[in-house]
Amino acid sequence: MRRFLLTAGLIVLVCGVAGAAVANEYFPQSVASGDPTPNSVVLWTRAVGPDGGIPTRVDLAVATDPGMANVVTGRAIDVDMEYDGVVKVKVDGLMPYNDYYYQFSFGGNASPIGRTRTAPEPGSDQPVRFAIVYCQDYIGRYYNAYLKMLLDHDEDIDFVVHLGDYIYETTGDPQFQDPDSERAIEFDDLEGAIQLGNDENPNYAAASLDNYRQLFRTYHTDEMLQQVHERWPMLVIWDDHEYSNDAWGATATYTNGRQDEYDVERKQNSERAFFEFVPIDAGLNEDGLLDIGADDLYPNSLIYRDLIYGSNLHLVLTDLRTFRPDHLIPEDAFPGLIPVEEPTLAAMIGEAWPAVRGNFDPYVDMGLFGKGLPIFRQTLSMIAANLYMMEDPALDFFTAVRLGEEAMAGNVSATFINILYAEAGLAPPFSPETMAVLPRGISYLIMGKTAVYSSSGSRTQVIMDTLDLFAAARYLETDGAAQEAYGSMQNAWLQGTLLSSPATWKVLGNSFMMTPMVIDFTNPLIAAMLPPEFPDFLRTKLVINAEDFNGLPQKRQEVLGLLELVDNAVVISGDIHATFVTDHQNGTYEITPPAISSSTNAEIALRVILSDPILGQIPGIEEIMANYGLLLQVSSLGPGVSPSNILYQNTWSHGFAIMDVTPDAFTILIEEIPSDEVGTSYYDDPEALDELFTPIMFTIRDGAIAPGP
Ligand SMILES: [Fe+2]
Repeated sequence: MRRFLLTAGLIVLVCGVAGAAVANEYFPQSVASGDPTPNSVVLWTRAVGPDGGIPTRVDLAVATDPGMANVVTGRAIDVDMEYDGVVKVKVDGLMPYNDYYYQFSFGGNASPIGRTRTAPEPGSDQPVRFAIVYCQDYIGRYYNAYLKMLLDHDEDIDFVVHLGDYIYETTGDPQFQDPDSERAIEFDDLEGAIQLGNDENPNYAAASLDNYRQLFRTYHTDEMLQQVHERWPMLVIWDDHEYSNDAWGATATYTNGRQDEYDVERKQNSERAFFEFVPIDAGLNEDGLLDIGADDLYPNSLIYRDLIYGSNLHLVLTDLRTFRPDHLIPEDAFPGLIPVEEPTLAAMIGEAWPAVRGNFDPYVDMGLFGKGLPIFRQTLSMIAANLYMMEDPALDFFTAVRLGEEAMAGNVSATFINILYAEAGLAPPFSPETMAVLPRGISYLIMGKTAVYSSSGSRTQVIMDTLDLFAAARYLETDGAAQEAYGSMQNAWLQGTLLSSPATWKVLGNSFMMTPMVIDFTNPLIAAMLPPEFPDFLRTKLVINAEDFNGLPQKRQEVLGLLELVDNAVVISGDIHATFVTDHQNGTYEITPPAISSSTNAEIALRVILSDPILGQIPGIEEIMANYGLLLQVSSLGPGVSPSNILYQNTWSHGFAIMDVTPDAFTILIEEIPSDEVGTSYYDDPEALDELFTPIMFTIRDGAIAPGP
């Protein structure tokens, strides 16, 4: 009987843990399997010889019984010395929907025995159950969520989907990692890493192949992660942290545009380690063995793929990092710049333009204006140069002057010029009367960008209404390319795959969300909570995370339009470190479970808002932010944010989700544990852990979603 064992979980758990295989010195990362098809699966281990070197040959046996008596296939594998002892092999000729047990060995040393399961044949109406996990930061954090999954679901899930942030590339980011904990990592190849922070308080990010390998090796020493891999095949896609925080393509964003962070070699190092250590069907040659070449690596990386799992489930997994364009508002966008001028804006808005014109930013054409008043332009360029130097102490004077001159060319916001003058202690040059007759457009400033190098106003805290218009203009201008998060090739594949799928349930696995992440401070329920000191310019709709589809609003509409054409479409997503169950009001539901261990979304939002020079000073802001998840939910339910409604949210938890897929229902179980437990290991106390979890259930049936089974 396939049923959630909510109460009987403990019994299953105790058996599971007692019978667990144990990694040993010859196979310190244990074993793993992944990417099952009806007749194949990828098997994985890492072998270390008695002398610490890499053994030249490893044997693999695959059996149908846990005692490895009935061996059905096997092979002797010549270990390629290039891959850090990793042995990854695709085994085929297997039977559909069968459990297999596998073991690697060399020189009389055997690995733990892993269990895996092949997929059912496409025509099979086999019900499916799978887990969704993501974001497993290791530094100072324990994988208690995996222990709960092992306890309750040992026998009853078919596979695990990992939606990214399998590793974090940093080892001591002071914003969310505790490098003093016993779960610390210090790079062996510190020279090869990137130093972040400052010289007095440095922290490091992986850059060399050795750095990325070390992260995977270390994460894989966690006994819960090992047991997860020993029990179930996993399908993994990457998000940003497998390479670099908030990355797009090969470009990292640590310096918010102060430096050019495009680094193909670093991106390729990260991918190489990923293909080595993750049991993905990639980086393998025709013989099914590891062989990672240039054609596997950026810009040719190919991890998007689909899995037809019987007639009930078609799982479509995407890559939202490798081919995505830059964030629409670059981190180094000059706040005073006008990317959308009045004629374009007036044409987009149409008849309503005269009525809303006053909401936009008056601007001056420095080319025209500066000609008559060269001194004015020179003064402004110097003020802007000064701004650049203040925000980037490493800038030399001449570069700063050049940047200042470039910033004060073309159309520039009169509001921003007035602000700059006021900050320099000068009388603002534009009177309200002058402002009234100037043309009006969208400046980066009125999208929330107040600094010349910042993630705020770019990747976070962007004003929704102006962003949407700016984004629409960019979308039209570039024929969609400015928002093509999948890249054109993947996008065509995605459309074709979803539209032609014969499966009952089509599940789109994205690393990041389409759920609205907006706080609408104009919503009457929210406005009523705000203190009188709350600044007027923030009484607006604020996009909290513009790093995901919230920063690509027309692309989101495009994907939701596609999904509307697909019966029984369910989106699963990761990245955000919080639970969201969302009704996109087009027959599509989106499920985002909590992160396994990474700092919760509420913790991150609280830190960002409280450290904001304006928001952080608002009286009572901490109490307002205590209801952060509720603010997002209320905003989504109110008019004017988007049609999508958040039905359930929890921004303070860790956990995972289990999906139960049958011909007539798609049942979602989300297990949540309060985030403050993540620094405590319950590995030796599973009974105490069990009590800390709360199950949340939803079921999709006949196109509608309802709480409960
Ligand atoms: Fe994450």
